[in-house]
Amino acid sequence: MGCCLHRFAHRKRAPLSLKRGVYILKRLSWGLIGGGQGSQIGFAHRSGAEIDGRFKLMAGAMDVDPNVAKSYGASLGLDPSRAYGTWQEMLQGEKSRDDRIDLVTVATPNATHFEISKAFLEAGFHVLCEKPMTMTVPEAQALVQIAKRPTAFAR
Ligand SMILES: NC(=O)c1ccc[n+]([C@@H]2O[C@H](COP(=O)([O-])OP(=O)(O)OC[C@H]3O[C@@H](n4cnc5c(N)ncnc54)[C@H](O)[C@@H]3O)[C@@H](O)[C@H]2O)c1
Repeated sequence: MGCCLHRFAHRKRAPLSLKRGVYILKRLSWGLIGGGQGSQIGFAHRSGAEIDGRFKLMAGAMDVDPNVAKSYGASLGLDPSRAYGTWQEMLQGEKSRDDRIDLVTVATPNATHFEISKAFLEAGFHVLCEKPMTMTVPEAQALVQIAKRPTAFAR
C-alpha cells in the first residue's frame, strides 16, 4: 500500500455529515497522477477507489505524455477541463477551483514522488503516495513535516 500524507493529521476523525440521525462519510473528490493506460498500478487504484462509493475520480494527469494524459482522462469520463496534461497544470487548475479535489493519489515513477507530493501538500491537498514514498529518508521526513503544518496554505 501507499502512504497517506494528509493536511489535518492532528484531527482524530474524517469529515462527517449528519443526515436523518446517521453519520455519513462525505464522498471524496479524488485526483490521480500517473496510473495511466497501460500502467501496472493505475487500474488497481481506480477500481479500488470506486469500490465502496466513497471516492469519485474528478481530476487527473495520468500519463507522462500530455496529449495522452488529456485524452485518457477524458476517456474515463473526466470533465475535459479536469483531464490535465501535466501534474503542474492539475495543481494550478485544482487550486483555483471552489470544488477542488479533496485528495490526490501519486502513482508515478518513484523519482517523481517527492516533487509532486511536496507541491500538492504545500497547496493544502491530502496526498496518498505510492510506495516508496520518496527516494531518500530526508525527503520522506520533509514530506511528513509539511503534512503536519496546520496552516501551510492559503486556499
Ligand atoms: N506495479 C505494482 O505492482 C506496484 C505495486 C506497488 C507500488 N507500485 C508503485 O506505483 C508507482 C507506479 O508504478 P507502475 O508499476 O504503475 O509504473 P508504470 O511505469 O507501469 O506506470 C507509470 C504511469 O505513470 C505515468 N507517468 C510517468 N511520469 C508521469 C508524470 N510526470 N506525470 C504524470 N504521469 C506520469 C506513466 O505515463 C504511466 O501511466 C511506483 O511508485 C511503484 O513503485 C507499483
